Amino acid sequence: MSGDGRNLFHAAADCFRADDATTKVSLTRHTAAAWDRGELQLDATEAPASYGRPGMPARLVLVAPRDVPKRPLGGSRGAAAFVHAIAHIEFNAINLAWDCVLRFRDLPRQYYADWVSVARDEAEHFALLAARLAELGCEYGDFPAHDGLWQMAEKTRNDAAARMALVPRYLEARGLDVAPGMITRLERSGDTATAAIVRRILREEVAHVAAGTRWFRFLCAERGVDSEREFIRLLRTHGAGRAAGPLNDEARELAGFTPAELRALKPVSTD
Ligand SMILES: [Fe+2]
Ligand SMILES: [Fe+2]
Repeated sequence: MSGDGRNLFHAAADCFRADDATTKVSLTRHTAAAWDRGELQLDATEAPASYGRPGMPARLVLVAPRDVPKRPLGGSRGAAAFVHAIAHIEFNAINLAWDCVLRFRDLPRQYYADWVSVARDEAEHFALLAARLAELGCEYGDFPAHDGLWQMAEKTRNDAAARMALVPRYLEARGLDVAPGMITRLERSGDTATAAIVRRILREEVAHVAAGTRWFRFLCAERGVDSEREFIRLLRTHGAGRAAGPLNDEARELAGFTPAELRALKPVSTD
């Protein structure tokens, strides 16, 4: 188990591998607090050579995106299914943040500090949604969930710059675009409790995408490549298409997107 006076990489691997959601959240909180107190060493030579697949609750049924049931927001079952879908994204986000720590080993100390901090935020987002699910009489694992959230992690596992471009700067940044519409729909349906959680998540996700921008640019500078051109090249290489709807320009600008990058992501009709 994760403990004080250990190597960050071992503690991160414990968080990453934990199957049970409550255990993953508490290990993540404990590890982030130990890191903040300076109790974890950053020694890549001591890092585990492999740490397997991310832990997930055994009862969680993963299905293809088209098989995730579409439910209207109305009714408590529909509200719970919606909260469950976001909780699943946040649960994956905890694993993704720890994978950013574990996978890439020769970066400055601040890189690891940033992704430890992201892991802690994601654990808090998941915990808020799990508490909301409990209010609605459900828990994580009660609904089938999208099986595709780990694919981009796999595709970018050998390249930190590609990871920063495609996970925080592409997938997480899409969350910035869709959250305002979600908040409006939730408020309209009377679910102000879930709306308040999504509003907090939106505010905190800007920093995660900004961390992606910071380390993407750092890696591009180290490699002597132009970061805007490289971002667009990586999007195309990994089949990361344009957004289906409007971008949240304000949040994306705060997170460090340049006008050229935004143009490359906007739906064709508005380009
Ligand atoms: Fe999150
Ligand atoms: Fe995030």
